[in-house]
Amino acid sequence: MFITLEGPEGSGKSSQIRLLYDYLLAQGVAVRLTREPGGTPIGDEIRACVHNVQNTAMCPEAELLLYSASRAQLVWEVIRPSLAAGMVVLCDRYYDSTLAYQGYGRGLDLTALRQITHFATGGLKPDLTLLLDIDVEVGLARRTDGGVEMNRLDLETVAFHRRVRQGYHQLAAQEPSRWLTIDADRPPDAVQTDLRTIVTQCLRGHVNT
Ligand code: TMP
Repeated sequence: MFITLEGPEGSGKSSQIRLLYDYLLAQGVAVRLTREPGGTPIGDEIRACVHNVQNTAMCPEAELLLYSASRAQLVWEVIRPSLAAGMVVLCDRYYDSTLAYQGYGRGLDLTALRQITHFATGGLKPDLTLLLDIDVEVGLARRTDGGVEMNRLDLETVAFHRRVRQGYHQLAAQEPSRWLTIDADRPPDAVQTDLRTIVTQCLRGHVNT
């Protein structure tokens, strides 16, 4: 079972996925937690490059290919072997981030992005994608107040992040059997309770993925 978490900046995705991982481990589930970009030594080097705030000259095409290279390595080195071993894989972002940020955000051609993504992943799709949805201004304020490490994408305009969020809504609407949207503008405990309920049901085969 391959589960991905997506969301705009400041949605609390990374802390929520870590709590979910700890919960599943405690339940005795064989689970692997990973993230994008990164999740492998090569991917972490790519992450440092693509997120470096000094790299203001990076063009959208190079940005896309760097995220895709990190993804290809992660699929090959971590995700496919873990799935083959029967594990649940939880991934903090996956190709839907590329469609949302580089496609809807930057305006790169979505058909080309889907082809590049298919090439990078060998067509590996998540079984379930959870969208932690939050108003853009609320999410960005959370990031600025939260003392988190800023990346190159944080330097983008509010309009960019609005397009990303709307992109996520469109992606979720296009594939309702894969996506579930969770209101992330609530206390963290409430969000975590929803995630645990959904994933537990999904693992029991009650969610149609
Ligand atoms: P995060 O690890 O804090 O979620 O930051 C990852 C950043 O990278 C976030 O701003 C979204 C961005 N990103 C893309 O633009 N495209 C991608 O394909 C991925 C995986 C992430």
